[in-house]
Order: sequence, then structure tokens, then C-alpha cells
Amino acid sequence: MRRISKRFGAAEVLRQVDLDIYAGEVHLLAGENGAGKSTLIRILAGTLSADEGRIEGSADVAVIYQELSLVPTMTVAENLFLGRMPRRWGFISPSELAAKAKEWIDIDPHAIVGSLPIGMQQRVEIAKAASRNAKVIVMDEPTSALTAVEVEQLFTLIATLKQRGCGIVYITHKMEEIERIADRITVLRDGQAVASRPAPQLPRAELIRLMVGREVNEQFPSRTPAIGSERLRLKDFTVHAGEIVGLAGLQGAGASQLLLDLFQDPPKAISEGVALLTSDRKTTGLVLSMSVTANCVMAGATSSWRNPAAERAEAQSLAEMLRLRAASLDMDAGELSGGNQQKVALAKWIRTKPTLLLLDEPTRGIDVGAKQEIYQLMNEWSRQGVAILLISTELPELLAMSDRIVVMRRGQVSAVFSHAEATPEKVMEAAC
Ligand SMILES: Nc1ncnc2c1ncn2[C@@H]1O[C@H](COP(=O)(O)OP(=O)(O)OP(=O)(O)O)[C@@H](O)[C@H]1O
Ligand SMILES: [Mg+2]
Repeated sequence: MRRISKRFGAAEVLRQVDLDIYAGEVHLLAGENGAGKSTLIRILAGTLSADEGRIEGSADVAVIYQELSLVPTMTVAENLFLGRMPRRWGFISPSELAAKAKEWIDIDPHAIVGSLPIGMQQRVEIAKAASRNAKVIVMDEPTSALTAVEVEQLFTLIATLKQRGCGIVYITHKMEEIERIADRITVLRDGQAVASRPAPQLPRAELIRLMVGREVNEQFPSRTPAIGSERLRLKDFTVHAGEIVGLAGLQGAGASQLLLDLFQDPPKAISEGVALLTSDRKTTGLVLSMSVTANCVMAGATSSWRNPAAERAEAQSLAEMLRLRAASLDMDAGELSGGNQQKVALAKWIRTKPTLLLLDEPTRGIDVGAKQEIYQLMNEWSRQGVAILLISTELPELLAMSDRIVVMRRGQVSAVFSHAEATPEKVMEAAC
């Protein structure tokens, strides 16, 4: 890609960006939320046109999109081969299609995609791109909803694709992933490529400095829990006011379901002081076609009286608190970058002043600097007496932030550890 520039209205999103992708390499694209990563790869894939610049060579590009692009009402097999059934197959029967799908994925090919948990949907998206035999495969935060085991499967797949001579463009905010798989790294900052180097020449601290433009302390903030006497009984355990309880378990073990059960009747739950950040911001977290402001003030709006000026002011202060990067608070939430959408999904609960805050993957897709803000906020809320139930597939985050860890297995609580007792090994063992 040569000298690629792109604006959306007045916002200059990409400025003269160069990107070279070689066969057999993992080229990591790094940068803060809103830096322009997804926009650049949409231009590479041809789904968006650049205002300036050109793409040399004409490699076939397959993309695993950050916001999944599957058809929810179709089956796994239908989604895998949508729009590219080889003519020689003629009228292919559902069972033949299913058999073909099984070569690429071990999820029931007849399952309706919309009914699968988000992590499984992500695996369908990955299989769909891999099965196309494209020369360049772009993976835009492919692991944001995957479990540790699924991440390993993806890395094995990536090794195979590299051997076949595929060029892979990989976007992630997870430092451990960058260190494990990047061959080369290009850093985008405010729409400009500020560095492009072999991975060994870009140590972690420097990479962060290039992305964020300031020093970021990656340590989890220390917690001095002030646990209250008020308590809430759930399933086989209790949560106290001011406590952060981490829920661990494999996908489908029941942790997410537990949160959903506590929020079955949203208006009632909200009036009782419960707030739920779901793991799927696109379908249940936000109304993508409404403005950022509307989304920020949506939860717990109690009357039909609206005060636009007050709503704006409130959205403005939430946006500052979470370092939201948006050209305007009037833009549709769907036009925000992925990480900024996540921030809005979280922001809307702040003003409802919950007493029980349910967080399912709160830092999903959030960049390294903004993660710190979210951890600080969680600490602050718990200091104010909010009880928090936290789900995170990132075990270090879960262990560092939780006062207690409740491990679930097949819908039941299989173990409870104090903060001091919990280790990754113990938690994994109780989960499997
Ligand atoms: N259709 C659109 N209309 C207006 N602005 C847009 C549109 N699409 C993207 N933008 C803006 O372009 C900027 C870059 O967005 P992009 O999605 O490329 O960021 P990103 O680097 O992928 O961030 P993240 O890490 O959060 O996914 C953002 O400020 C975003 O709001
Ligand atoms: Mg993005």
C-alpha cells in the first residue's frame, strides 16, 4: 500500500500510510483505539476506497473482521461458503456442504450462527477466511473472544498459513500476542505510520511509547478492597458490596449465563441497581445507528422528557473520563472504532450508579493505555461500594483485579479461591 490517505468528513483518519506485506510473514499492525488500523485494512480488502494512494500488486485478500461479518440466520456451513460455491458442485446438498465445512471447523455445521456464543462465531469467521486460500489474510483482533485453547488453535493455523506462503496482517491490543507471533510491526498513530520494523527491533516499552506517545505503566493498579457487610446471594456464592468477584470458566461453563440471568428483565434490573455490560457490544451493547450521546444516556432514562444540552454535557464528561476518540459525539456509535464502541458500551452504565455491576469482558478490544483507565474506574467504583462481577478470558487481568475468583464448570460453581490463593494453574484445573 502506498501513500494511503482517507478522511471521513472533516476527520483525517489516514495520512500517507505505506504498508508492505511479504509472503510468509506475520505483519503486526499496532496502534491505539481509533488510530486507523481497521480503516487501513478495509481499504486493503477493497471494501472502502482510499482518497489518495494506491495498492501495488493484486493479491487476493481475505479478512477476519473485528466486527464479525457473518449472516446470523444462516448455518455455520452456509456462512463458510457463502458467495463462493464452486460451480462444479452444482446443487450441493446440505449434507455435502456440511462435510466440506467439517474440513475447516469442528463446530456443528448445521448450527445457526446467530445462536452460537460470540467466541464460536469468531471461529467461524476465522475458518471462513482461512478456507479461501487467499494470498493475504488479515486478522483484525481475531482472539478478542477466544479462550486460551482456541487461541492456541489459531496460532497453529497461522503457522500453517505462513508455511503456505500467506502474508498475514494481524491486529491486536494484546502485548503477549504481539511478542509471540509478530515478524514485523508497523505502528499507526493518529492515522500515520510512525514506525515499521522487524519485531526484535521494537521492544515492548518502545512499542507502547510509539503507539501511545507517553509512558504507560502496564502493571495492574494495586487494590485495597473495602468490603462492606451488605451481601447478595447468587447461585452458590455471595458477593459483598465493594467486592470484585472474578468469574472464571471455559466457554459455555455458565459464567456469562449467570450474568444474563441476573439481568433477565432489564427495566426491573436497572431500577434495582443492576448494570450489565454484555460481551457482544454490536448486538446487545449498543444501538449502532444512534449517536454516541444517545447511547451514553440511554440506560436508565426514566422519563420521556429530554434535555439535549444536559445529555450532551453528560456524554462529554463520560467521553473525557474514558478518553473516547470520536470526531463528534453526534456521530453514530457504529462509526466509532471497535475499542471506542466498547468504551461507550461501558460509559452508559456509569451514570446509572449501579450497586451491582456485571462486566463481561470489559476490556475487549481496548488499547493498552485505556485499559489502565478502566481498571482504575473499577477500583474507584468498588471503593464506593459497588459490587462487581467480572468475566475475562485474560487470566492475568482476572487474577489481578478480583478479590475472589469463582470458577464455574458445566453450570455449577466448581471452586472458589481468594485473591491470594488463586493461581492460573489452580483456576484452569478447576475449570476443566
Ligand atoms: N464510517 C465512518 N464514519 C466516520 N468516521 C469513521 C468511520 N469509520 C471509521 N471512522 C473513524 O476513523 C477513525 C479510525 O477508526 P478505525 O476503526 O480504523 O480505528 P482502529 O485503529 O481500528 O481502532 P480500534 O483499535 O478501536 O479498533 C476513528 O476515529 C473512527 O471513528
Ligand atoms: Mg479496529
